[in-house]
Amino acid sequence: MYRILVSDPVAEEGLALLQEHFRVDVRTDLPEDELVEIIKDYDALVVRSGTQVTSRIIEAGKNLKIIGRAGTGVDNIEVDAATKRGIPVVNAPEGNTLAATEHTIAMMLALARNIPQANMSLKQKQWKRSKFMGIELNDKSLGILGLGRIGREVARRANAMEMRCLAYDPFISADRARELGVELMPLDDVIRNADFITIHTPLTKETKHVINAQRIALMKKGVRIINCARGGIIDEKALLEGLKSGKVAGAALDVFEDEPPLKSPLLELENVIVTPHLGASTVEAQQNVAITVAKEIIAVLQGEQAKYAVNAPTIPSELQDRIEPFATLSEKMGRFLIQLLEGRLESVDLVYGGEIGQFSGNTRIITRHVLKGMMDPILQTPANIINAEYIARERGITIRETVTEESHGFKNLITISAKTDRMGETMSGSVLMKGISRIVSIGGYTMDMIPEGYVIVSRHLDKPGVIGRASTILGEANINIAGMQVGRINPGEEAIMVLNVDSEVPPDVMEKIRTKVGIFTARFVKL
Ligand code: NAD
Ligand code: MLT
Repeated sequence: MYRILVSDPVAEEGLALLQEHFRVDVRTDLPEDELVEIIKDYDALVVRSGTQVTSRIIEAGKNLKIIGRAGTGVDNIEVDAATKRGIPVVNAPEGNTLAATEHTIAMMLALARNIPQANMSLKQKQWKRSKFMGIELNDKSLGILGLGRIGREVARRANAMEMRCLAYDPFISADRARELGVELMPLDDVIRNADFITIHTPLTKETKHVINAQRIALMKKGVRIINCARGGIIDEKALLEGLKSGKVAGAALDVFEDEPPLKSPLLELENVIVTPHLGASTVEAQQNVAITVAKEIIAVLQGEQAKYAVNAPTIPSELQDRIEPFATLSEKMGRFLIQLLEGRLESVDLVYGGEIGQFSGNTRIITRHVLKGMMDPILQTPANIINAEYIARERGITIRETVTEESHGFKNLITISAKTDRMGETMSGSVLMKGISRIVSIGGYTMDMIPEGYVIVSRHLDKPGVIGRASTILGEANINIAGMQVGRINPGEEAIMVLNVDSEVPPDVMEKIRTKVGIFTARFVKL
């Protein structure tokens, strides 16, 4: 029975689901050294944002098959270390969107009307009405940085409150923004024009300290800033100065550069309101994310694909069934091709033709299967679709993908050309119908071959007796030929022979075939 370690508090509903299938240990607040010590016994690790899943922990997790993050951000997980080991990292990106959205709106209203300060003052038996004069949101400009899941929901609610929404998100089209009632503009224009600025981007190299002293200088005097995304997107020193100088009228922060921010001078300022990273802390969100992650872990440990792997290309669910036959064929083609090659692999070119064009934007998953097929036979530990591309790129292999309408008479055609420092080889395959695929050419020779079982591929001189001699050698070794394809371009010149055989061909038998007159090369392939 698989063993699951849950190292942060996760909602009961998710734990119950996991417990139906696996042995689950909940052990929170473990120091890194202890996690490194015990992780080898577990097949899956489930965390929220508390556990720092370092490369040391990932390396020590010899049996780890999946890491689940009950939440959105995976910045507490060293994803590259997991990718390298072929471990999928899954998150629950949708379950807490509304919780974080509503928290943002709550923070914006609280900031506009000084609710936390007024609440505290009255509880200290003071009745100070003029001190807590607020401002209205109506007719104010809200600058949204990051128009993803949460940014969009914030925009919808801000529009309902008749705010004017401006946004910066380099990965969203102006049309999509318009549909959301948002004006997309360059970052500094948002910064200059907003009365309120709210952040909804991930923390990345590009977004780190995107709100800094220079940008604060560009802001309107009296701007209010909300961050319910990630600490570190705002330079807290610059914010502190902005707040002290009065340039920034107020800030509402749910996240901090260092959490918990117990020594932060920001906590001393009256115009700063804070919550201890509560954006996702609703009963509903915690149930949602725990259930999503539990389902992902169950799926992956039962051999299915993850829906939300952050280190694998995700395919829209409506395409999954349609892409699957191409993924299966392409993996076999990759496995086949690598066994025909000699030398150090330098490049892999993939051409997706015909109806595969419909998947445009989602062909990377097919490419990952090709690379898995190619890497698997040459590695000590098996490659998978998580680490195959990483391994290939780490070895300096160039990978190029082209999508074209051209498919040479087939409804769909996958062509893979691979080059090593010593040779090149090309192979094409097609999915004829669900469950039926064929290799339709190797090295430019047309054929109709089922990509399964044991195969001998030879290049020989097209003259009488060569094929017969090879068949005799196999017969003498008691190896049955199940199918044969021969192809040539011009009579009497080089030709190809592809034999499907019923059992493995020992190296000495292959050697006999290779040394027969007329055979140039012969390779044995296991699919
Ligand atoms: P998302 O991936 O749906 O959206 C992020 C958006 O940011 C995307 O549209 C992306 O295009 C955009 N973006 C990326 N780089 C950018 C850049 N340099 N400049 C501008 N835009 C950029 O993510 P989401 O689910 O909306 O989450 C947003 C943030 O909120 C994340 O940081 C997430 O970790 C955080 N979050 C916090 C809490 C909390 O408890 N406070 C809860 C949930 C999510
Ligand atoms: C998230 O990224 O989902 C949030 O930060 C909430 C959490 O820490 O779980």
